[in-house]
Amino acid sequence: MFNLTQLVRKNILSLRPYSSARSEFTGKEGIFLDANENPFGQYNRYPDPYQKKLKSRLGELKNIPSENIFIGNGSDEVIDLIFRIFCQPQVDKALTFSPTYGMYQVVADIHETPLTQIPLDENFQIDLEAFQQTIEKENFKLLLICSPNNPTGNILKGIDKVLEMFKGIVLIDEAYIDFSESSSWASKVQEYPNLIVSQTLSKAWGLAAARVGVAYTNPDIIALLNKVKPPYNVSQLNQEIALQTLANPQIFEEQKATILAQKKYLEKELNQLSIIQKIYPSDANFLLVETAEPTALYNRLIGQNIIIRNRSKLVENALRITVGTPEENQLLITQLKKISNEKSPIYR
Ligand SMILES: Cc1ncc(COP(=O)(O)O)c(C=O)c1O
Repeated sequence: MFNLTQLVRKNILSLRPYSSARSEFTGKEGIFLDANENPFGQYNRYPDPYQKKLKSRLGELKNIPSENIFIGNGSDEVIDLIFRIFCQPQVDKALTFSPTYGMYQVVADIHETPLTQIPLDENFQIDLEAFQQTIEKENFKLLLICSPNNPTGNILKGIDKVLEMFKGIVLIDEAYIDFSESSSWASKVQEYPNLIVSQTLSKAWGLAAARVGVAYTNPDIIALLNKVKPPYNVSQLNQEIALQTLANPQIFEEQKATILAQKKYLEKELNQLSIIQKIYPSDANFLLVETAEPTALYNRLIGQNIIIRNRSKLVENALRITVGTPEENQLLITQLKKISNEKSPIYR
């Protein structure tokens, strides 16, 4: 039997959360003399601490009840809160599959939680046997799964098996799921009481500057996230722009279609370049490519004012290229063709 209470840090279980002015009195009308705000101005009032309108709109779009939704200041905040709730510093342990999103290690380090990284196999898929052996040997409180995975770009298979095997808290980070044809795990949070699925408006929805991340999970874990979060973690401005953006899913669909078509264009063009040895399959809005001299190529592109991501410390010889606008992608390909056509050594 799953027992959430046993997984939560004791100090968080007994924590009496801060009771903010806007959570004590939730009415909209009245003379507000309760929160030490300046009575003048347009953005003078604290925002809704529970972002009810935003959750209701997201719930409509995703077909998930509001009570299963938590909004964070970016999904990075969600990751941080999960460590705070479940990982007792210097006691509990966390697990992930590598290579993966670098913030997991940083957040684990902040919370003094050792993070074991099980290498993905040669296709960047989960090695279920290695996973089984690892969880048999040690107890892990938290498992972080990034799917589609950053920086490899692929959807991870076998998550259903992992969920059957792992009894701690599982976070599936779906920052790039909107670009993928695979369905989200968010609809399964009622089925798995230990499952949290995070998504973000930073990628496909085009709102990286606004910092709006989402966690889908059961109401008991939502209550813990609410207990631990800063009272007004999502600003009024961020809530407004998120609502405006979510009111227009058509723009999102059009942009997404353009990005996916441009990804195909990039794949086709990159395939013809002698300096690119491999393009890894991608379910996201970026491509991981293999090249003989990644750092030299990265620096050459910087010299042309084109900035990609050097991921060669994570994956041998790898560079990560985000799909840009059609003009940006064309410029990138033009530069890469030039470099590719140079006599060797091509980078010097
Ligand atoms: C896998 C993954 N998760 C989370 C994030 C953070 O997203 P947010 O902007 O919602 O904090 C990123 C950003 O690059 C990411 O790649």
